[in-house]
Amino acid sequence: MSDRENEIYDVVGIGFGPSNLSLAIALEEYRSKAPETGITSLFFERQPSFGWHRNMLLPSTTMQISFLKDLVTFRNPTSSFSFVAYLHASGRLPRFVNNQDFFPTRQEFHQYLEWAQARVADRIVYGAEVKSIRPPSDTAPERSDRLLLEVSEGGGRTTRVVEARNVVISTGLVPSMPDGTERDERVWHSSEFLEQYRRTDPRELRRVAVAGAGQSAAEITRFLYDELPHAQVCAVIPSYGYAVADDTPFANQVFDRGAVDDYYFGTEQARDAFWRYHRNTNYSVVDDDVIRDLYRRWYDDEVRGVQRLEFLNLTRVAGVKRVGAETRVCLRGGPDAEVRELDFDAVVCATGYDPMEPAGLLGELDPLCVRDTAGRYRVERDYRIVTAPEMRCGVYLQGGTEHTHGLTSSLLSNIAVRSGEIVDSIVARSTGSGAERALFAEVGGDIR
Ligand code: FDA
Ligand code: NAP
Repeated sequence: MSDRENEIYDVVGIGFGPSNLSLAIALEEYRSKAPETGITSLFFERQPSFGWHRNMLLPSTTMQISFLKDLVTFRNPTSSFSFVAYLHASGRLPRFVNNQDFFPTRQEFHQYLEWAQARVADRIVYGAEVKSIRPPSDTAPERSDRLLLEVSEGGGRTTRVVEARNVVISTGLVPSMPDGTERDERVWHSSEFLEQYRRTDPRELRRVAVAGAGQSAAEITRFLYDELPHAQVCAVIPSYGYAVADDTPFANQVFDRGAVDDYYFGTEQARDAFWRYHRNTNYSVVDDDVIRDLYRRWYDDEVRGVQRLEFLNLTRVAGVKRVGAETRVCLRGGPDAEVRELDFDAVVCATGYDPMEPAGLLGELDPLCVRDTAGRYRVERDYRIVTAPEMRCGVYLQGGTEHTHGLTSSLLSNIAVRSGEIVDSIVARSTGSGAERALFAEVGGDIR
């Protein structure tokens, strides 16, 4: 146990991706405008340093949102933490504008996130994995105004315990593999792609498969085709061809702040309509330019009489087994739903993610968190899990709220606004009044 026991913070954040980075900035802007309220915070991140989906930082991949949907602008357009402020600080603002593109590369956005996190670094602990949240042992959980967080540091060598009046869980999406498929040194999920690829001798990759028809799959297929000129690349796709991500202006409104209210307060039919009509803004779809890139490569090969890129349409991976050095993939599909097995040197499962699941962290607190009839957490509009009324501390979610708040739950579009709403809620609850909330709005914390 460390000598830092009894540290108490108003807010402890678990996970430090873009969502909690945006929250740390919202708290910082609140603190600098209203220092007398003295809200304290600390964030724990298990990675050794800041990293946003590093294993998918492939060359020339671009953001899927406008650069204006950065960490702050939709909450506070005058913030010094905006993407434009970052461009200005790095001397690239005129050249960025000359480029006339709303969608920076993921590489550049990553640099922006790193720049922003460095400015709040005194509140982040890297290499620190939160293992559990529990009530103090001397207090009945439902009467507790503080929670204890157990944090493992130094790769498990030390354990630190901190106390929090509010916890904000933002641990991100959970990689999903096809049924009957375990990861190993030649069976990878897209979330570990670059790390595994760099560990492998490219000469050994003569025949590779990529499963999935989403953005990750298409980007990895293009990357492997370009990086491995000697290899056959086989795309296993459940649809008849990649489907385009709808980012046209009317459909894009599903990511607006108003859509969160419409979803949250809407009827069951209204919520269903969001998914029925607009799932194709995000899931199992690919940006138009990547689709065209792939088609062009495939067609150019055909003209040259080669076939390096193969598409197995209407097909899913139904399992993978190791047979000697071979990775044998069981495929189900095609027009007649036949089952067959093919051998590859490596298989990348770009098969998506499950939503953030906080139950493991909540442990003993979980029974005090209210669930709906489908077993999902009930969540207030301010992103706080509905808990037993006597439990005075707040457990907030950034992620894992698609069922209550809609499509933006796991995305970047709304993180600036959401972080402001969480700060509003924490401030209002800590003071027991709406006065500070109004102050935050006044200082540009909330532009609603
Ligand atoms: P994120 O997953 O980024 O961060 C969670 C953090 O928590 C991680 O750093 C993890 O290490 C840490 N963590 C987990 N458990 C922990 C624990 N117990 N203790 C301590 N730390 C812990 N969306 C969009 O709107 N536009 C886009 O362009 C993209 N692009 C994109 C590219 C790729 C390759 C993927 C896979 C996804 C996207 N997304 C996206 C969607 C994506 O969910 C979103 O960009 C953010 O990553 C969401 O940020 P979060 O901070 O919520 O999660
Ligand atoms: P995704 O959109 O959920 O796509 C997963 C794909 O895998 C779907 O096509 C799915 O098909 C398929 N699949 C699932 N099980 C399969 C199986 N057994 N065999 C074959 N295919 C299978 O996941 P993603 O592409 O990783 O995207 C996740 C999020 O990250 C999205 O928000 C996306 O926009 C984002 N992203 C952004 C960028 C970028 O910004 N440049 C890059 C990558 C990802 P079904 O739908 O039929 O199940």
